[in-house]
Amino acid sequence: MCGIVGVLGNHEAAPMLLDALKRLEYRGYDSAGLATVNDGRLDRRRAVGKLVNLSDLLVHQPLPGKAGIGHTRWATHGAPTRANAHPHRAGPVAVVHNGIIENFRELRADLAKAGFGHETDTDTETVALLTRRHMQEGMSAEDAARATIARLEGAYALLFLFAGEDDLLIAARKGSPLAVGHGKGEMFVGSDAIALAPMTDRITYLEEGDIAVITRAGATITDAGGRLANRPVKTIALDHARVDKGGHRHFMAKEIAEQPMVIGNALRHYLTEAGDDIRLPGDMPDLGQVERLVLVACGTAYYACLTAKYWFEQLAGLPVDVDIASEFRYREPPLAPGTLAIFVSQSGETADTLAALRYCRDRVAGIVAVVNVEESTIARASDLALPIHAGAEIGVASTKAFTCQLTVLLLLALRAARARGRMDAARLADLLSALRGLPATLNTALEIDAPVREVARDLSAARSTLFLGRGLMYPLALEGALKLKEISYIHAEAYASGELKHGPIALIDETLPVIVMAPCDALFDKTVSNMQEVMARGGRIVLVSDAEGVEAAGGGTFRAITMPVTDPVLAPILYALPAQLIAYHTAIAKGTDVDQPRNLAKSVTVE
Ligand code: F6R
Repeated sequence: MCGIVGVLGNHEAAPMLLDALKRLEYRGYDSAGLATVNDGRLDRRRAVGKLVNLSDLLVHQPLPGKAGIGHTRWATHGAPTRANAHPHRAGPVAVVHNGIIENFRELRADLAKAGFGHETDTDTETVALLTRRHMQEGMSAEDAARATIARLEGAYALLFLFAGEDDLLIAARKGSPLAVGHGKGEMFVGSDAIALAPMTDRITYLEEGDIAVITRAGATITDAGGRLANRPVKTIALDHARVDKGGHRHFMAKEIAEQPMVIGNALRHYLTEAGDDIRLPGDMPDLGQVERLVLVACGTAYYACLTAKYWFEQLAGLPVDVDIASEFRYREPPLAPGTLAIFVSQSGETADTLAALRYCRDRVAGIVAVVNVEESTIARASDLALPIHAGAEIGVASTKAFTCQLTVLLLLALRAARARGRMDAARLADLLSALRGLPATLNTALEIDAPVREVARDLSAARSTLFLGRGLMYPLALEGALKLKEISYIHAEAYASGELKHGPIALIDETLPVIVMAPCDALFDKTVSNMQEVMARGGRIVLVSDAEGVEAAGGGTFRAITMPVTDPVLAPILYALPAQLIAYHTAIAKGTDVDQPRNLAKSVTVE
């Protein structure tokens, strides 16, 4: 939530800051702003709406200076207005912030008493005002920033810029990520390394509680205890940082299309060279010994966990509790010592998931993270991080990260099944062979374009929709409904097919499209019965199944999407594609903003 960036450069800072913000726009996009120091003078430009509005403003009102900070906002405190847009300024100090200052009301009251009135509704302005107050009391810029930071409660990544100081940036991190980039005689700061990719691939990740005093000569970092900290400079792989649409109209379309390739990457990483066995890091806990699993995540990653529950329980006989991180963290669930906790997160920065992970520390036998961003806070806070190898995911709606999460979780379930003596070598060989063939099957599924577009055209006229699935298709129905809601703004609900008659069937009429995800597996006949119940009440069924299923369902369905065949165990990964494509094409038909849907942000670093 919110992207922040800073530059101490040898060239004009504004174009570099804008470019970096473009790469961070997925974190928030309701307003944006820049501040620079030029000949000692601090100045700023801010605009409501997408970054393009700020770029336009800069054409008419350029912002010279080689030192600067920038921000793209996802509003927490105060509406997305120009006054509330960052950077916030108080006299000689400008501040950009990602996170929430929880004690800002108390700080604001103190400041007001001392004559420092606020002009915005934000928590961040308090940081600028407090720093200004300390400077008026005679402190240096650095001391004032440190004294301010010491009074803050909550989560923050902060950057300070000062009038009269064109070779100084102060950065602080607590609860929100921050990366310092090293150039040649230039220094950069960003919410993530991707933001800095065109400028440098040499990155230092700040740790919790770190404060960095940055000049063009380098960064001096102190830890939470105020001691000098030696944080390593890492060279990051630039291909991970490549962020373009690759000829597609949207990042989401590109990321959907990339799934055969990235799932292939994940498989290469976790299978032996011959592809005939699963290869996990040596420090992976023995899934044969684990007594119970707890899987925790948010949103789409939670639905990946819900799918994995079916796999771990059915294939490996391993009991699994699955929870939404925001509930888990405050419920204080008792955890048996033989429990392995697995946290799944694309960004690795989701505040609730991180808090749930911290709750598990010292309460469970081990903590494993399944993440996309390998340097993320969740990855570093766990005992072992298993990367999903999806590559940078920019579209706000998660697609390829979901299927890569599923792939890694399935491999863990297969490993558990073998280790617990619940699966013989021949069945494992069959499933691994099906998995190796999955990228090709996914490629075939991507070609099912025409029927998906027809369905999308119908859905775009609907006010509400229902997704149904049974067994492994139930979590996928939930994911399909989430995708449709978030990018097309059409209300969508998902139910386990068998639950329909316990209430939601009352919703059925001829205006309600019902999307049924049902490969022709052992549960198919039961789903067909549920479909009949819907059709008998005038409901319009869109069946997503294989040729056998479409045939067996007979006439009466309103539309059908015919999928290629795969082993039923792998079906959630394959059927994620039509779920994503239906949402994508419906959003296109409605003309909504696919990559940056309203009110959302990619990385949810606040509660
Ligand atoms: C939906 C979506 C979100 C995320 C959720 C967790 O398309 O992307 O529901 O899945 O915010 O984010 P991560 O995986 O980064 O923890």
